[in-house]
Amino acid sequence: MSITKYFKGSVFHTPTDGVLEYLEDVLICVDAEGMIERVVTTEQSDYPEMLAVAKQGTLVELQKGQYFLPGFVDLHVHAPQWPQAGVALDEPLNVWLDECTFPLEAKYADASFASEVYQDLVAQLLARGTTTVLYFATVHLEASLQLAKICAEKGQRGLVGKVVMDDFDANPDFYRDASTATALAETETFIKEVQKLAKTTHQGVYPVVTPRFVPSCTDEGLAGLGQLAQKYDVHIQSHCSEGQWEHDHVLERFGKTDTEVLRDFGLLGEKAVMAHCNFIDEKDGEIFVETGTAVAHCPISNAYFANGVIPIKRLKEQGVTIGLGTDISGGFSPSLYDNIKQAVMSSRMLEDGVDVTLPQTNRGVANARISVIDAFSLATKGGGEALRLPIGLIKEGYACDLQVIDTCYSGNPLPAFGVLNQPKEQLQKILYLATAENIRQVWVQGKKVHEK
Ligand code: GUN
Ligand code: FE
Repeated sequence: MSITKYFKGSVFHTPTDGVLEYLEDVLICVDAEGMIERVVTTEQSDYPEMLAVAKQGTLVELQKGQYFLPGFVDLHVHAPQWPQAGVALDEPLNVWLDECTFPLEAKYADASFASEVYQDLVAQLLARGTTTVLYFATVHLEASLQLAKICAEKGQRGLVGKVVMDDFDANPDFYRDASTATALAETETFIKEVQKLAKTTHQGVYPVVTPRFVPSCTDEGLAGLGQLAQKYDVHIQSHCSEGQWEHDHVLERFGKTDTEVLRDFGLLGEKAVMAHCNFIDEKDGEIFVETGTAVAHCPISNAYFANGVIPIKRLKEQGVTIGLGTDISGGFSPSLYDNIKQAVMSSRMLEDGVDVTLPQTNRGVANARISVIDAFSLATKGGGEALRLPIGLIKEGYACDLQVIDTCYSGNPLPAFGVLNQPKEQLQKILYLATAENIRQVWVQGKKVHEK
């Protein structure tokens, strides 16, 4: 396919996990589908010629102090919870769900309310550089379809699930599926409708099989969802071993771990992403590796609801695929920048330990910390790998999903002063200090979806 658009500027990305690659002043060549056909570096012999061609065509050229980052991939968002971001976070998870979250999610029976919230949320996420999102919607078929349509219209790559909560004993009467059969039938309708909608988009929207979590579903519901995921070869998402209560509850109900239960119902696999996974042990980690299931690490949310810190470094070394999620609104922030920072901080606290009355030698977990570049990899490359999509790197064969960061923007200039301005330092400053103000443009698969 021929090149239809060019982007010229300096790039930060991590083709190897945790290892920064900085490419100065490259020319990104993009085809009509919005895929990157070539990244031409200044050392390549045809750079001057390619640049001359680009200047005759459609060229987006960055200014000094501006950089390209890959669009971020958010692996865990509860779209209906956006109106309560920051609210009631001092309650434990089960109280927060029963008293705050379920009454709010029940309101999405009203599709016009859903539309109003989802329009705003998708725009807010794009404005923070998030180009691909794995969403939980609600139990409502119509409102869940609305979310997929809004992603399609606004140009975001949305993977959307109609949530299943079919256990009458576990869920409130005012918010659950009408029956297990209805939950499965509506999930199937949802899959077909979203697959139809996908044909009208160029960046893609995807249906996702979405049991809320094991405690809210019947055995028949879970088994039926596993079969649907297999029949349509679609993505799967749920929560897995998030907090002590969930982990213990599933162990008690089945006599096996959340991970084993999900696997046995056919709900793990190469297109499965499980949120949190704070309590998975090495044996569970092995199941994640064997099945190709990914973890959505949600560090801000985990600080409130997890009852512990996930050993990301250990899981990564075990070979588990990991990306980042905001978990709106268990996590209050719609920004993966904020979650990158928290992922680093939580890992440091895990390594050092938190109880100063204990001797330093047995206060923490050795070798647990991750760097901010590791966390940047999770938000980009890790997310792409989790979803099995060619996203998260600025590289040939990948979708052209870009954020344009302006470090000199007058609304929030990042500290420069002629010192500490090497590429790695520049990226560290961006990851720690940039706000939505600094994100001047966002592109999804070669189309501009946000400009400030
Ligand atoms: N477990 C089941 N539902 C939820 C939810 O909405 N948020 C979080 N953080 N955990 C859950
Ligand atoms: Fe969640």
